[in-house]
Parts: sequence; C-alpha cells; structure tokens
Amino acid sequence: MSASKWQKHDRAETIAGDFSEFLATRRSTRDFAPTPIPHELIESLIADALTAPSWSNTRPFKICIATGDVKERISSEFLARWSKLSTFRNGNLFIKVKKLLKGAGLPTSNRLLARAYVPELKPRAERVGRELYEWIGVQRGDRKARDAQWAKNYEFFNAPAELIIYIHKSLHIFAANDAGLMLQNLILSAHARGLGTCLQGAVVIWDDVIRGEFDVPKDYRILTGLAIGYPKDSHVNKFGAHRLAPEEIIIKPRSES
Ligand SMILES: Cc1cc2nc3c(=O)[nH]c(=O)nc-3n(C[C@H](O)[C@H](O)[C@H](O)COP(=O)(O)O)c2cc1C
Repeated sequence: MSASKWQKHDRAETIAGDFSEFLATRRSTRDFAPTPIPHELIESLIADALTAPSWSNTRPFKICIATGDVKERISSEFLARWSKLSTFRNGNLFIKVKKLLKGAGLPTSNRLLARAYVPELKPRAERVGRELYEWIGVQRGDRKARDAQWAKNYEFFNAPAELIIYIHKSLHIFAANDAGLMLQNLILSAHARGLGTCLQGAVVIWDDVIRGEFDVPKDYRILTGLAIGYPKDSHVNKFGAHRLAPEEIIIKPRSES
C-alpha cells in the first residue's frame, strides 16, 4: 500500500484539518453499552495497531483479550480486592491493622503507583479529577462516591472487552514507548469505527489476577489495561478533559529564553 495517496499537496490541508478534528473528538469512554464486539473486530484493531513504528521492529509487547467469563472472573476478583482496599484506605488505625491481618487487598504489583504525584504534575492530575467528579456530580470530599466511581474501573465500565497490555522487561521504558505508539493506533482505529476506549492504569496493581487467567510469559510486565466497546450516550462520556497548550511542554533553547 502506497503512502503517496495521503501525501498529495492539493489534498493535504483538507486531510490534516479532518485529522485534527478526528483526534480532538476522541475522549475516554467511561460508560459502555453491553453490545458485544466480535473477536475479528478486535483483531482488526490490533492489525491497525501493528502498523505503528517500533524500535528495530521488535514490537516488544503482548496483549491479553479478556471477554465473557474470563473478563467476569477478573472483574469479580478486582472488585473484591478494591472493596477491601478502599475500606483499608479510608479506615482509622484500628481498621487498618485489622484489615492488614485479614488481607487488605493491597497491590500485589506496581506498588509505587500509590505514591503521590510530584508537585510539577500534581495540579494537572488534581484538575482532571476535580473536573471529572464535578461533571458527574460527585461532591468534593465525598470519598464514598469517589471510591464508587473508581470501582467502575474494576467493572471495566461495563465494556464487553478488556485488553491487558504487557511489555518485555528487557527493554525497560523503551518498550513502553513502542507499546504507547501501538496503543494509540489501536485507540484511533477504534475511534474511527465508532468504538470507545479507556486506558486503565487502575488494573496494573493486581497482575496476579490476570496471570491466573492467561499464561503471560514471566519476562513480560504489565503496562496498562484498555476497555473497549460501544460508548453509551451518557453524561460521563461527554466529559472533555483540559488540553495543554504546546508552549506548556516545549523546552526552548537557552539562547531564546
Ligand atoms: C496510561 C494511562 C492510564 C490511565 N488510567 C486510567 C484509569 O485507570 N481510569 C480512568 O478512568 N482513566 C484512565 N486514563 C484516562 C485518562 O484519565 C485520560 O486519558 C485523561 O484524563 C485525558 O482525557 P481523554 O482521554 O478523555 O482525552 C488513563 C490514561 C492513560 C494514558
């Protein structure tokens, strides 16, 4: 397939304009319709994902596709653990000790994720959290309602499919780069077909649950989950996260600052 069709100058402006609009209209979906998505469709998305660039064409990642009973079993175990973990987090010292003795649903993988954001990034994370919760009517300080919203992560927002992405440990952060490019292709391909997606860092804290269902090779580590399905026409799906302006991330040469 030739790239030149997309590179003709007389069409370039129209294509670029449409493409920018296409990109801008993608947003995370947090409420899915139960409509199943055929396995072949997921495979087509993965085929598109595999056209992304990759370091030495190594494609150092693997994908587990959880649907049906497998997805339900993972979800039930996640929900059970989240229920314990949220009681533990919100409890006083007595409850914490009691829960620790009984099993508190603490992370079994990627424990460092629980650390607070560094001051530079914290305001951005706080802003999206505040704006999303305001959008869906969760009051500031209402931990119960916040935890209930977070728990929806562990139902995969009712998506008919949850993908779990693993990267090869040997390539360190560079494998995450390849997986990120692959995932963005997959997400945009889904968007082009009217499907919605939500990346889910929330699932990386209990890798043992996924490995209980899939034979993931031990030299792969979990990177993220991705919920996929048809978005419902609901309020939460209309939330528009704030976008940074380019100058907020561009580092100018010292000679220009
Ligand atoms: C690596 C990664 C992990 C994420 N994890 C979660 C998650 O666990 N739960 C969730 O609701 N959203 C999650 N998101 C979605 C982000 O919150 C969302 O992309 C961001 O707020 C921008 O909004 P948008 O995707 O609608 O543009 C994640 C995004 C990325 C890139």
